[in-house]
Amino acid sequence: MVDGNDAGLETHQPADERLSPPESFIEQANVTDESVYEEFEKNWPEAWDRAAELLDWDEDYERVLDDEGDTSRWFTGGSLNACTNCVDRHLPEQKNQRALVWEGQLGERRSYTYLELYREVNEFAAALRSIGVGEGDIVTLYMPMIPELPIAMLACARIGAPHSVVFAGFSADALAMRMDSADSEYLVTCDGYYRRGDAVTLKNKADTASASVDPDVTSVVVDRLDGYECTLGEDEYDYGSLLDAHESERVTPVERDATDDLFRIYTSGTTGTPKGVTHTTGGYLSYVAWTSHAVLDIKPEDTYWCSADIGWITGHSYIVYGPLALGTTTVLYEGAPDHPEKNRLWEIIERQAVDVFYTAPTAIRAFMKWGEEYPQQHDLSSLRLLGTVGEPINPRAWKWYYKHIGNENCPIVDTWWQTETGGVLITTLPAVTDMKPGSAGPPLPGISARIVDGKGNEVPPGDGGYLIIDQQWPGMPRELCEGRAWAADAGDGAPQLEDTEWSYPTEDGALADEDDYITILGRVDDVINVSGHRFGTMEIESAIVSVDGIAEAAVVTGTHDIQGKAIHAYVSTEDDAGDTDALRQAVIDAVEDAIGPIARPESVVFSPDLPKTQSGKIMRRLLEDIANGEELGDLSALRNPEVVGEIESAVRSD
Ligand code: PRX
Repeated sequence: MVDGNDAGLETHQPADERLSPPESFIEQANVTDESVYEEFEKNWPEAWDRAAELLDWDEDYERVLDDEGDTSRWFTGGSLNACTNCVDRHLPEQKNQRALVWEGQLGERRSYTYLELYREVNEFAAALRSIGVGEGDIVTLYMPMIPELPIAMLACARIGAPHSVVFAGFSADALAMRMDSADSEYLVTCDGYYRRGDAVTLKNKADTASASVDPDVTSVVVDRLDGYECTLGEDEYDYGSLLDAHESERVTPVERDATDDLFRIYTSGTTGTPKGVTHTTGGYLSYVAWTSHAVLDIKPEDTYWCSADIGWITGHSYIVYGPLALGTTTVLYEGAPDHPEKNRLWEIIERQAVDVFYTAPTAIRAFMKWGEEYPQQHDLSSLRLLGTVGEPINPRAWKWYYKHIGNENCPIVDTWWQTETGGVLITTLPAVTDMKPGSAGPPLPGISARIVDGKGNEVPPGDGGYLIIDQQWPGMPRELCEGRAWAADAGDGAPQLEDTEWSYPTEDGALADEDDYITILGRVDDVINVSGHRFGTMEIESAIVSVDGIAEAAVVTGTHDIQGKAIHAYVSTEDDAGDTDALRQAVIDAVEDAIGPIARPESVVFSPDLPKTQSGKIMRRLLEDIANGEELGDLSALRNPEVVGEIESAVRSD
């Protein structure tokens, strides 16, 4: 067992070693031929037929990529329905196979065969129509990890209504902001859910949000909590009663153009408001099906488990759409990894005989800290492949995962991607490319990435720079297809690039080695990554400065053994602000109200002023060094060096 300090982040440098995939894995893998890289290079973009071929199309597409003019369109002329691809087409061969397996926090278990999933999705699609949802209407899904969430997503997809899933841990304000931005008049929610055995209510937050958005909202409420009576008002429907009213109904899937929207998802950007990202039906679905096949090696007979929450992009792509498009059994878990005991995940893997397990480095660091005795209590021999996503994994955590969970017998795919990319762009192909602990790997076949300096010039191997993707891919979102690269100027997280070159500045820093293996260094913009979740410092700061008595706020991160990073807020107060304990609580409440408890700062430090440059810019780097207890160096560039000592003593006395 490693101690807390060792569990984390001593280095982002990859280990200087390579590991080959085990023969037993290669023998059965979906993609085994290394010529796939060359095939994509030589035959780009047509090679993307390989992804589209994994789907059933109502109308065949005419062109793989049409990027003449201002807009890029993948699989133009083609039409399909995502729900048909994830459900209906599996019925002839797999109707009695489990599609969804759900484990609730109180120990409940439920599963749905593909036939059962088909029936409930149809009934709910009919229900959505009956309450007025039409093609193109955005339906907000504010739901925890219960089977009704993927069912609602698929029902929306069936009738051509894009969904906008909002993570259940977000606050009422955060929900309202997303509903307003999407002009969403329909909401599917839940009375609540269980977390570590306690009931957490959700409907109250949904009510507050609905009351504050512009249009009149029509809601559907799933009954999850036992013995909790939820009174429904006008324009509110009970999920179970709606299903009863539409029992046995079937809804013809709406034929959608490949370029039509499948869903909207909000993520954090560099502004104070969330950034909407829209994924398309044909491009996105092909891409997540292909990466589920090639990277996660998913097969229909597998039991596959991604422990993310469906509220984030990982859950959309690799709990719902990718795995179900391939007709596999996908596991959903409602609760915490350490409840009732720290062996919870390993117990589920053993009971469900999970073949492929995909999780986040923050979870792996917690497992390390708890110790290998927990996985050792269980038979994990069903596992064939392991994955990680969301933040850099250091070689130490990688090796722990490899040894104690995979028994040195399962390749690990360290998958780099983003909400914007829809699916994985950089990682190893598990049966083809060697693994380097700590490095995500090379770009996938058909994906081109470069690491450049602020002027857009490629940097030599081993040097850090901006990671850019310089070739389009089918999973790119509508906004990128329409030319919005989002990123700000050089210095703010994006290099200066020639207008003529197509490129997507990812706003991540990275370095590549001689073999083109890419190691991700982390965000270079004002987005921070805590436990693999993305927040904008601006979002948090605008919540803090809304508190009476607060003059200015700067949010930075410090290293954290389990979460990777922790949020620290440095705050200056107005002269008559008064008692800091009450203010500290007000700051925390403001962040929880605006975003949710997941964005709660680890510390709130008060000082009369924040350190500023001569031109008045807050020196965030310095605050970050203070948060990490590092040497501060020369302070002569500061306009107000005297505040530094005061801040340091405030941190020490905290
Ligand atoms: O900084 C990168 C980090 O997560 C960011 C994207 O966050 P989000 O859009 O919430 O999507 C997370 C799940 C795909 C990236 O800009 N990130 C993601 N995967 C990795 C990673 N950092 C290092 N290694 C990864 N494998």
